[in-house]
Amino acid sequence: MKNISNKQAVDKLIFALDAASLDEALSWIELLSGHVGMFKVGKELFTAVGPKIVDCIKQRNQRIFLDLKFHDIPNTVARAAESAVKLGVDMFNVHASGGSRMIQETVRAVEALAAKNGQTKPIVLAVTVLTSLNDADLQEIGFAKSANAQVLHLARLAKDAGADGVVASPQDIEALRSQLGNDFIIVTPGIRSSLETVKDDQKRTLSALEAVKLGADYIVVGRPIRQAADPQAVCRNIVQEIATGMTAA
Ligand code: C5P
Repeated sequence: MKNISNKQAVDKLIFALDAASLDEALSWIELLSGHVGMFKVGKELFTAVGPKIVDCIKQRNQRIFLDLKFHDIPNTVARAAESAVKLGVDMFNVHASGGSRMIQETVRAVEALAAKNGQTKPIVLAVTVLTSLNDADLQEIGFAKSANAQVLHLARLAKDAGADGVVASPQDIEALRSQLGNDFIIVTPGIRSSLETVKDDQKRTLSALEAVKLGADYIVVGRPIRQAADPQAVCRNIVQEIATGMTAA
């Protein structure tokens, strides 16, 4: 049986810092530092308050996932990624559907700049198919494959192009882990406690325990923590589930 420390389990919990203002974000960072392993800054918060949110998180020695899902011509994404390296984020993402060349140029630029600055290279993740899209939506935009097949296709493309991992829905973890091997990072949102009855707009959910057992490396949780009466207690429960999942994996 594996011996999992509390820190190893905390490190795998990413909090979705989906706040609308700097003040709101700062109060969450104060409350949850040490209770989660990383803060995910998405488009809402970054567009509202800008890069200073990253500085605020770093000043508190916390890790950052910059979830801006870059998707543009290779040169533009590579330059945006260099800006993310300069900000000092630990993880960021691009759309795999931007193609191999976009991912390759981005990874190359990030590696070169991090090496030049003596920084640890951030983890580069690819988003495959947005979980809001079903098979009919994909057909509408001209993709012939089913959503499940498209996820695997784009994940393989991203891995071959040098991405470190993917953001994947709970239902895709198993297939991705078995087809892309153990050295490919899987980050999974859509996590809900098995005890919860209200599942808001996340249709395909798994518990943290199940996700980690199936092979998720990190899990992203937002509303179940933000809407709780005691957010720190919810984090502790999720971390306990992660530790149990890691022991069983
Ligand atoms: O509140 P909740 O736990 O559903 O938050 C999940 C977070 O993960 C949100 O920030 C959401 O934008 C993000 N996300 C997601 N599904 C994806 C990719 C990202 O829910 N496929």
